[in-house]
Amino acid sequence: MLGDKKEQKTKDGIRIYQDADFAGMHKAGQVAARILDDIAEHVVPGVSTAALDKIIEDKVTDYGSTSATIGYRGYQHASCISVNHVVCHGIPGEKTLKDGDILNIDVTVIVDGWFGDTSRMYVAGKLSRKTERLIQVTHDALFKGIEAVKPGNTFGDIGHAIQSYVEAQRMSVVRDFCGHGLGQVFHAPPNVLHYGKAGSGPVLEEGMFFTIEPMVNLGRPETKVLADDWTAVTRDKSLSAQFEHSIGVTADGADIFTLSPSGLFHPTYAS
Ligand code: MF3
Ligand code: CO
Ligand code: CO
Repeated sequence: MLGDKKEQKTKDGIRIYQDADFAGMHKAGQVAARILDDIAEHVVPGVSTAALDKIIEDKVTDYGSTSATIGYRGYQHASCISVNHVVCHGIPGEKTLKDGDILNIDVTVIVDGWFGDTSRMYVAGKLSRKTERLIQVTHDALFKGIEAVKPGNTFGDIGHAIQSYVEAQRMSVVRDFCGHGLGQVFHAPPNVLHYGKAGSGPVLEEGMFFTIEPMVNLGRPETKVLADDWTAVTRDKSLSAQFEHSIGVTADGADIFTLSPSGLFHPTYAS
């Protein structure tokens, strides 16, 4: 059992949440995950990413939640939609999806003050062999990271698990963006790196809440941000993929708050 001290923090400034707080995170995480389930059938060639965002914005309201991204540092949309060589923070717009496009949709909602943040990959139309492997490796990399989550392990163990797996597949891990603590705030300490040395970084403790959200490129890891100040793309124009879960550290592992209610987390088969 955890203590009942309010707002307990580690020396690294990482908040330790209480047992009762897991329920709040579950509720928020499930709303975000349900929205990502709902949008799947709409991801088809010919649809614009702005149209997808509009559906998402309506769902956020329908489910009694609030968008965490609308108004966040000037961002004006209910989702980030990152297509092909866009690494993250793609802005929904009038451009339409083409057959074979791969995209990440990232949604963060607030329910009763708790934040649920999750993203996953989708395909418009037919998936090619090469992109299927990128998506599979990125998905599995997230779960390698989650498997490293338990009290006594370190954040470096999470990053190491992800990086070593991805690089063994001859793909690269993006360094310029990371996961983050969340809970009753959107972005809190620590930075959750998706690369690193085993045993380095803060020690994981029961009651920590954070995201793991690896971005994996088929080419080199370097990124650049476009003139809109949001859209991050691969410098070499290679394809990029990302999956994100919000999780809590339990006595012996991880509690995944953002599991798909319909088993649609992976785009090509249930998981
Ligand atoms: N949801 C993103 C994350 O995983 C943050 C998006 S911020 C926005 O941390 F303003 F771009 F929406
Ligand atoms: Co996040
Ligand atoms: Co996110």
